[in-house]
Amino acid sequence: MQRALFGRSASLAQLAAAALDGTLAARSAPLLQRLERSMSSVSIPPPECMLRPLEVPVRYLFGPGPSNVPPRVLAAGSKPIIGHLHPEMYEIMNDIKKGIQYAFQTENNMTISMSGSGHAAMECAVFNVVEPGESVLITVNGIWGERVAEIAERLGANVHRLVKAPGECYTNKEIEQAIEKHKPVLFFLAHGESSAGLCHPVDGFGDICRKHNCLFLVDTVASLGAAPIFMDKQKIDILYTGSQKALNAPPGTAPISFNDRACNKMFNRKTKPVSYLFDMTHLSNYWGCDGSPTRGYHHTGPVSGFFALRESLAILAERGLEESWRKHKEVAAYFYKGLEDLGLKLFIPDKELRLPSVTTICIPEGYEWREMLTYIMKNHQMEMTGGLGPSVGMVMRIGLMGYNCEKTNADKALHALADVLKNCKKSKA
Ligand SMILES: Cc1ncc(COP(=O)(O)O)c(C=O)c1O
Repeated sequence: MQRALFGRSASLAQLAAAALDGTLAARSAPLLQRLERSMSSVSIPPPECMLRPLEVPVRYLFGPGPSNVPPRVLAAGSKPIIGHLHPEMYEIMNDIKKGIQYAFQTENNMTISMSGSGHAAMECAVFNVVEPGESVLITVNGIWGERVAEIAERLGANVHRLVKAPGECYTNKEIEQAIEKHKPVLFFLAHGESSAGLCHPVDGFGDICRKHNCLFLVDTVASLGAAPIFMDKQKIDILYTGSQKALNAPPGTAPISFNDRACNKMFNRKTKPVSYLFDMTHLSNYWGCDGSPTRGYHHTGPVSGFFALRESLAILAERGLEESWRKHKEVAAYFYKGLEDLGLKLFIPDKELRLPSVTTICIPEGYEWREMLTYIMKNHQMEMTGGLGPSVGMVMRIGLMGYNCEKTNADKALHALADVLKNCKKSKA
């Protein structure tokens, strides 16, 4: 109303005159508030934007994450806050731990959720088990290996990258040879390489790592709940994921688990981990995993984020892992067929190696991928994304995961793609 009366740049004199006018003042309580503020002792006024209500559009989040969050999880996240050290909160954290153990298929006691996104779990894994100067072996066939390599380099590790084109796989023989050569303390593989749309087989790597006294670290941020993973059976020493993909919780929490081999390495270090926040000595106590009768303050966990994570893990437990994997596979197969019917080419040729949660398509000849994505967002309120890191300019990525993993959503995405193919043919040469 004030803006309608005076425009954006009402002067103090105008405001004062208006406020003194009883009729206007009666109609305009905010005007008086604004006047009061303008006479206050602070020299930086409250920003205009903060005086407007929060507005959030409704969108189809069909990119590689975050994914749309089911109402049940949103409702859990909006429950009243309790203290991060209250007994009820500890109970909720204990439930989360059990939910993660189920989702990871592990009996590891050292199972927690990071207060932070998937990157927090990546850093937690590397910071805790690697010491400066130690050798680390990392597969880089998309962006995620490169990220882990950089994290390890920052702490002074001796990093060896096994680089392949985005979406390519590694054989067990290649890995064993590289482990024999570099003698790493840690070997990293992304199970769901979301930048390429690849779901990398894991079997056999755990045995190789054990034979050579190396820890096996696996990233399932994009694959957990969408494709089978069995932490204990597959001899994975450290496994992490993120909350915002097939788990369908809001971004900001990241489950991680360490087995006894990993605990043995990280609790017998010569040096302290570079991060205090991510130090598992403290986090294990905060999460009640260190056998101590008391749990103490380390940091203030994201209480609402943990409520939402608990609910998303509850949904997974109710539905069952096998059903969740089956559904993702079924919807993905339906989606692949629809994409091919539109004349689009899948980036990962072998169906069995495609990541069911995030599908990558080659950018069609004669189109500009940024234009396509902008058109789809503008006309369909739908997020799809381009590649990431080495796959930029190679692929477009479409995610149908968790709550979004439905044939009706696949149809919506196919409809948007058909529309963009009709209307976005490149005009420039
Ligand atoms: C496979 C993979 N690892 C790690 C991450 C990083 O997670 P975050 O963005 O939650 O930090 C992502 C995010 O897209 C991912 O897809």
